[in-house]
Amino acid sequence: MNVHARALAKAYAFDEQTAAFAEDVIGHLAQHPKHLSPKYFYDATGSELFEQITVLPEYYPTRTELGILRDRGAEIAAIIPAGAALVEFGAGATTKVRLLLEHCEFGAYVPVDISGDFLNAQADGLRKDFPGLRVYPVAADFTAPFTLPAEIAEMPKVGFFPGSTIGNFEPHEATDLLRTAREILGAGAQMIIGVDLEKDERVLYNAYNDSAGVTARFNLNVLVRINRELGGNFDLSAFSHRSIYNRDRHRIEMHLISRKAQSVRVLGNTFSFRPGESIHTENSYKYSLERFTELARSSGWTVRQSWTDAAKMFSVHALVASE
Ligand code: AVI
Repeated sequence: MNVHARALAKAYAFDEQTAAFAEDVIGHLAQHPKHLSPKYFYDATGSELFEQITVLPEYYPTRTELGILRDRGAEIAAIIPAGAALVEFGAGATTKVRLLLEHCEFGAYVPVDISGDFLNAQADGLRKDFPGLRVYPVAADFTAPFTLPAEIAEMPKVGFFPGSTIGNFEPHEATDLLRTAREILGAGAQMIIGVDLEKDERVLYNAYNDSAGVTARFNLNVLVRINRELGGNFDLSAFSHRSIYNRDRHRIEMHLISRKAQSVRVLGNTFSFRPGESIHTENSYKYSLERFTELARSSGWTVRQSWTDAAKMFSVHALVASE
């Protein structure tokens, strides 16, 4: 914890995570343009709203990736060495990993996630459905270096990073993340990664502006969280959800737009908003196959094989650690 977060923790009796959240919120709302990190979407309500997003008719990424993993699971499995340890970066619902486990005899499965409770529940479910599978959960922030369990030291390593979560990182952060993963997994490692592709802008726009308004609730939930955890006084009805496709930067941008001139207080700090002023809450980068291949190359990985659906909406890549 840095000095500011430590002071907040002391003043408000916050735990370490809440103090870091408070420090980020206060620091990022004071900047121009105002912004918040998308990692703060995922409290219990945000995670539930995200699960609802994944089954929306407009939100194609999840079902398209699942289709690729289902249709190409056997091919993907064929390039994974027998007895390998599968290390999943940010373990979400287990639907995707199950598609690999059905095709492959893994030596172990290592889900890595910041939420220990969630991990343990997930691990129990998998142990029940795949008796004999050794599961070693690691409670850690997968964007920073972490230590793999000693039990898998001798096994070949395969990283698994589905969902196009890589797209929520700035390209330089994505490079750092893939480089860190390469170091953690070691020489000879492989990685299976899901990456959303550039496509018709209407399709992209609709995926982040669904007609049922679930994405809007997901976006606004970060303000609910600030009000609840940090005693903020955001008036939710005074902000509206906006997602746009930024063609030059190849990304969907999510914003919360102030509907009027207003001031909001969070932990003794006042933040003023002009009418129409934005809090930029998320980027979701979309790649071409070429641009992703280049990102992987500059991060210490070589693309061994890539799979897409027939309409080239989404891609799954097998990467090999470069020497
Ligand atoms: C988790 N991540 C890959 C999602 C995305 O599509 O960028 C998060 C999301 N934001 C709005 N809808 C979904």
